Amino acid sequence: MAEQTTPIEEHSRQVCASFAPAADPRLSEVLQAVVRHAHALVEEVGLTRDEWLAAIRFLTAVGARCDDVRQEFILLSDTLGVSTLLELVNTAPAPGASEPTVLGPFYVPGAPLRSFGDSIVTDPATGGTPLVMTGTVKDLDGRPVRRASLDVWQVQPSGLYDIEEDPSKRNLRSRFETGADGAYRFTTVRPVDYTIPDDGPVGTMLRGTGRHSWRPAHIHFMITADGFKPLVTHLFDESSPWLERDAVFGVRPSLAVDMDDKECVYDFVIEAE
Ligand code: BEZ
Ligand code: FE
Repeated sequence: MAEQTTPIEEHSRQVCASFAPAADPRLSEVLQAVVRHAHALVEEVGLTRDEWLAAIRFLTAVGARCDDVRQEFILLSDTLGVSTLLELVNTAPAPGASEPTVLGPFYVPGAPLRSFGDSIVTDPATGGTPLVMTGTVKDLDGRPVRRASLDVWQVQPSGLYDIEEDPSKRNLRSRFETGADGAYRFTTVRPVDYTIPDDGPVGTMLRGTGRHSWRPAHIHFMITADGFKPLVTHLFDESSPWLERDAVFGVRPSLAVDMDDKECVYDFVIEAE
């Protein structure tokens, strides 16, 4: 006997089918999955009209909080773990390669290029504990990668990124290039734990659900080199009390390092394209 289709199943089937003839097959595939999962969610939790309206008001507020500097939707994606999931799905590292993690909203292209050993502290009022970061960029066979570009950026000891204070400020962000030995070295200050921007709707969501907005202390790296896959990652201070409770779920144990001494050594391993 043929199985009976329920009105809900028939409805979802019709909406999915409406996207089938799209000119772009990938767009069709993604939108059909959006419909399937959205419909399943409504059914699974028995979503009420008021709850749906509240969700629409929330997403409207998220959009209204976005501007050239602030991207509340990325923050939402980060705090829902979607940004990290995208990394896990799209950039699974080869065995032995350094692990990637989220880019975050504070990367600024075009950071000033500095020389081996230079400081990335440009604001004399920065404060904090001096720290030297050093190591080598290597390939999977352990050979140094020459002319690799390392973009580095981190939060100020005040708990704010430079661009949160002034979008034109360039403090604790720079770019370095490795030489023939693949080595990098710069002076900075020890990163601090800080809260992600939580004065918008995402912050309201976190507080309303008993979550916090802390990220464990870290330094961001974006490493590119001709013939290699780009690596976007952080190095975390292994002593941070927030290491296992990152608000954006970006910690990978292999990226936690000892920053207790004056000098922290970490070798990055990047993968050929
Ligand atoms: C960051 O590490 O800069 C960051 C990442 C995700 C959300 C907010 C900040
Ligand atoms: Fe950060």
